Amino acid sequence: MSDFLALAQSGVQKLSPYVPGKPVDELARELKLDPANIVKLASNENPLGASPKVREAIANELAELTRYPDGNGFELKTQLAERCRVQTNQVTLGNGSNDILELVARAYLAPGQNAVFSEHAFAVYPIVTQAVGAESRVVPAKEWGHDLPAMLAAIDANTRIVFIANPNNPTGTWFNAQALGDFLRDVPQDVLVVLDEAYIEYAVGGELPDGLDYLAQHPNLLVSRTFSKAYGLAALRVGYALSSPVIADVLNRVRQPFNVNSLALAAACAALNDAAYLAKSRELNEFGMQQLQEGCRELDLGWIPSKGNFLCIDLGRVAAPVFQGLLQEGVIVRPVANYGMPNHLRVTIGLPTENARFLEALSKVLASA
Ligand SMILES: Cc1ncc(COP(=O)(O)O)c(C=O)c1O
Repeated sequence: MSDFLALAQSGVQKLSPYVPGKPVDELARELKLDPANIVKLASNENPLGASPKVREAIANELAELTRYPDGNGFELKTQLAERCRVQTNQVTLGNGSNDILELVARAYLAPGQNAVFSEHAFAVYPIVTQAVGAESRVVPAKEWGHDLPAMLAAIDANTRIVFIANPNNPTGTWFNAQALGDFLRDVPQDVLVVLDEAYIEYAVGGELPDGLDYLAQHPNLLVSRTFSKAYGLAALRVGYALSSPVIADVLNRVRQPFNVNSLALAAACAALNDAAYLAKSRELNEFGMQQLQEGCRELDLGWIPSKGNFLCIDLGRVAAPVFQGLLQEGVIVRPVANYGMPNHLRVTIGLPTENARFLEALSKVLASA
């Protein structure tokens, strides 16, 4: 019989599939728990639930379920272009920003070429890179964050893409405007810089640059963003990229004709106009960030400072048994050993009651371990 693993493209053979956060229903089935009593802080989702404006927009769209969506996403692109101070031909829509990362890899990477990214960076970068037979060049992190000068030094003649995330997931680390400016100045002009800003709406304190400010000066820059996090639409899968028109044109050639569905398009337009929801998301996140840090202090635990909607907590010992103990308590967080961080757990900031449940469960599990 043929070995269809050996027949797969060599990069794919070496890939491990993306491991998502454990779904609530799965844990409920496994441990015979009531799903209503389970707290999931494992996928950097928005704990607020969908806004009424989004629900209404989706309801209005239901009558058209037999029709294909607008394959050009005219309305959403128009609104995004206006907000992002670009032309509509600079906007690419994706089925989540994950889709954008995949489109970029499909369009710009091939066997013999490589993509550069940081140690502890988002797990999808190696997946999209190796899926097209290109090489992943992983640059050691500095204090858990991107070492941008070292990443520059890792670029060679075969590098086509550099993935940088600001802030990064799972570490929550970030770089400032000076560091980004220097990086973009020195990066070869024929290397595409994918600046992943999936969590940018949460960044407070003015320490993070706005990637959009650099687009006009740098035609090799693509900024990717998402509606999955601060806008609360993870289930619908909508993300977008802002780039030069040429790059947008190239991505448009490889995307599925209807890559963003009509409910998602309508919901994203509604979410963009729901400033109160976004403000509440941020406020809740800031509160929860303080709450989790305070809780860690009380438990004498360290953490990596974060500008996202999550916190990587340093348990000072192997985290896997603590993760399992938390599951027994009905609390799902994210182990990050697969990111080279065996002693950390990543916790998404939830509602104040959920954060409190997590801290209580953590305290109990740590005391019994
Ligand atoms: C850094 C980063 N980029 C991109 C994504 C992709 O998110 P989505 O496909 O939901 O837009 C995520 C999701 O967790 C992320 O953490």
